[in-house]
Amino acid sequence: MGKDVIIACDFSSAEAVYNFLDKFEGKKPFVKIGMELFYAAGPEIVREIKKRGHKIFLDLKLHDIPNTVKKAMSVLSSLDVDITNLHAAGTVKMMQAAIEGLTRPDGSRPLLIAVTQLTSTDQESMENDLLINKPIDEVVMHYAQNAKKAGLDGVVCSPLEAGKVHDTCGKEFLTITPGVRFADGDVGDQKRVMTPEQAKIIGSDYIVVGRPITAADDPVAAYERCVKEFVD
Ligand code: C5P
Repeated sequence: MGKDVIIACDFSSAEAVYNFLDKFEGKKPFVKIGMELFYAAGPEIVREIKKRGHKIFLDLKLHDIPNTVKKAMSVLSSLDVDITNLHAAGTVKMMQAAIEGLTRPDGSRPLLIAVTQLTSTDQESMENDLLINKPIDEVVMHYAQNAKKAGLDGVVCSPLEAGKVHDTCGKEFLTITPGVRFADGDVGDQKRVMTPEQAKIIGSDYIVVGRPITAADDPVAAYERCVKEFVD
């Protein structure tokens, strides 16, 4: 899999996501299914979107004891998604258990990506709420190294961190970056943003784009603009 634009399909019903995907006619963009849609529409929505020919990033961010995560991942492995994820905060042991659970009898498995520190967590909340007294950059890089040590394929991170993750963990270690906005677009609630073009320059492997596409007057044109800036 090469560089690609992943559309965050943050909808609350199957009907809403099908209405949205139908606009793309022959095109089959890579889509991200998150907790909202998965909890509303269940595993069937994943099977249906896959059947329609889309690649899928199933963004459920698992975090539990290793045995529970292993068993949950083994259920997810049967859904035939392309990428799924967990929280690196669950420890190296949990991430190793996740890989075991995700690996199918034939040895294949979806790519497994770790969330380091959520972009909604800042230095202050990390220190005060989580009692982690280190610079957040250092914590993110340490979590990325743990993910690599456990055998994962990459991390979700801010586009501003992608270059440093590659320097620390190697070029092949994937970076998936949300927080993408067009230069002339609305930033919304995202704090640290980059344009698709800047994300390409800094070396992100995949960008996750939600509202700049889903809330656009012409979502297909907005998606194509992202592809043109990031991939072409
Ligand atoms: O609409 P927007 O482009 O902000 O959507 C970004 C998507 O990426 C959302 O689905 C959001 O949950 C997800 N995400 C994020 N920041 C993270 C991890 C995931 O924005 N650190």
